[in-house]
Amino acid sequence: MSTPEIPQKSPFSVDVEAGKSYWWCACGRSKTQPFCDGSHSDTDFTPVEFRAEATKTVWFCGCKHSATPPLCDGTHSKL
Ligand code: FES
Ligand code: FES
Repeated sequence: MSTPEIPQKSPFSVDVEAGKSYWWCACGRSKTQPFCDGSHSDTDFTPVEFRAEATKTVWFCGCKHSATPPLCDGTHSKL
């Protein structure tokens, strides 16, 4: 498994809307963080879907090392 790039060592806060799907960038290369822009095409990574069940603020992992992707689990503090 390759190592993802680290866009930032902190989460991205995003206001999501109930019923919508969001595609989190797992490779770290996207220019539209925290979401996929297709830049993973020559990597082993694929984006991870987040389906919002409620309208609320979500903390997406920005370091790409979370054990619970696409959400931040605090791993960024150990990088
Ligand atoms: Fe990173 Fe698509 S650009 S997963
Ligand atoms: Fe990746 Fe927190 S930003 S675990």
